[in-house]
Formats: sequence, structure tokens, C-alpha cells
Amino acid sequence: MSETAEKAAEQEVDLTACNEILDQYQDMQGALMPVLQAIQDHYGYIPEETVHLTADRLNIYASQIYGVLTFYAQFHLEPRGKYIVRVCMGTACHVKGAGRLGDRVKELLGISHAETTEDVKFTCEYVACIGACGMAPVIMVNDATYGSMSVQKLNEVIEKYQKMD
Ligand code: FES
Repeated sequence: MSETAEKAAEQEVDLTACNEILDQYQDMQGALMPVLQAIQDHYGYIPEETVHLTADRLNIYASQIYGVLTFYAQFHLEPRGKYIVRVCMGTACHVKGAGRLGDRVKELLGISHAETTEDVKFTCEYVACIGACGMAPVIMVNDATYGSMSVQKLNEVIEKYQKMD
């Protein structure tokens, strides 16, 4: 478990929202996926306590839920940053210097692939081709795509998000 995850685990998770989600879906067939999606939408990840509560309320084993969570890449078991910085490491981006962008993210934020800053503001992910090779090298911050990136442009983009709440 990463340091960020350990810190988050030390804080108690308020299960009120999880109970409300389960109230909403409890009698529905095939409720597990929408419940997990709603939990992640609310908490930003799937806290361990919500897995156990969901198991109790839906009358299934926690191990079954973990099976689903580890199978689907969209679910996250650790807290993630408010801003997800995705650095494309696909071939087109790689040959145009994506590695330097990854290094620069590490210098600026202190995180590399699959790591989250201590304040849970940024998570970095190295990803495969995101389908914008014409603009390589490319990064994304949440849903925004930034193409033809240079180290200088990356500094500006990251600085912009650092200034935002
Ligand atoms: S390789 Fe980066 S967008 Fe295709």
C-alpha cells in the first residue's frame, strides 16, 4: 500500500453516502456494478470499508467484490488526485520525447506512474496511445488534452493546475 493510501486508510470513511447508494440499489438485480460505480463517483475511489458494507448489504462475499474491482481497470482501490495527469507513452509520443515529460512531472510534482501527491491533488499515470498521435507528444489532465508538448509547455500546464483549488 502506498503512503497516500495508508494515510487515507487512517482517516475514518463516512459511510453515510455508501448507505444511501445501497438503499437506492439494494433490491435491484445486478446491483453490484452500479453500486461500485456510484461509490467511486462519490469517494473518488473504493474505500475498503465500503467493500465490507456492500458485501453485508448485498449479501455477497467481499472476495467476490474484490474480484470485480481488480478485473475492471476503471475501479481504484486507493485515493486518487483531483487532477489526473496522464502522460502518453505510446510509440508516436515516445519518439517525440514523452520520457522527458514523465521525468519533468516527477521533478515538478514528485510523482511518477501510479503515484499520488501527499495532498491528493495530483495523480500521475503513464498511458498507452490515447488516439491523438497527430499532436504527439500528448498529455491529458482529467478530460483536457494538451498536444505538441514541450517541457516548457508542461511547466505551464502543471502550474495552471497547481494554482487551481
Ligand atoms: S502515441 Fe501518444 S497519442 Fe498516440
